[in-house]
Amino acid sequence: MKAFIFDLDGVIVSTDKYHYLAWKRMADDEGIYFDEVINDRLRGVSRMQSLEIILERATKSYTDEEKVALATKKNDIYRESLASLTPNDRLAGVTETLQKLREKGYKLAIGSSSKNTPVILDKIGYAGYFDAVSDGNNITRSKPDPEVFLKAAEFLGFTPEECYVVEDAEAGVDAAKAGGFTAIGVGGAAGYEKTDYPLSGMADILKIVK
Ligand code: BG6
Ligand code: MG
Repeated sequence: MKAFIFDLDGVIVSTDKYHYLAWKRMADDEGIYFDEVINDRLRGVSRMQSLEIILERATKSYTDEEKVALATKKNDIYRESLASLTPNDRLAGVTETLQKLREKGYKLAIGSSSKNTPVILDKIGYAGYFDAVSDGNNITRSKPDPEVFLKAAEFLGFTPEECYVVEDAEAGVDAAKAGGFTAIGVGGAAGYEKTDYPLSGMADILKIVK
């Protein structure tokens, strides 16, 4: 194995909670029921697809224009919460684990559906840190489609068989497996049957590599 491709939200940084809070505010304002169980289905999927999942509980129908306005409203709320992000928002074990993997010679990449990836990496002190970044800005199909990880592998110059993917989302594990990658699962993805290596945290990655 030559490289690790990391999902961003919920793997590298705790922005998954801000996604939830922003959608919650939008849903509450619209009078649409939304909770953390529904929120788990939004992990890894694009902004517009996330909105469609939330609208399954809506009692009225929305035009395409109204949907864009709701997604924009959510993103504006989310972007406000990103303003206060710092390197302290990196999740437990991230800094040390990435450093050690790099010392062992692995290449490191990001594979995230988020269009906000560049601003987040900047805020948490990781601008320019990764060997490749594939995100919502260079793909047309969101996870569970493997495109974002295939692009990351291509940017690194490796085949999927040479890369681990680290995910917290079931859609992300599905994407990794569909692309021919080995899937490491943390958080919610640790309990998913398709995950190759279920781990209790980032630091445990060091136990599965030489
Ligand atoms: C993923 C999140 O990383 O990015 C999803 O897990 C989110 O919940 C998706 O919908 C798109 O993010 P953004 O920042 O482009 O709205
Ligand atoms: Mg995630």
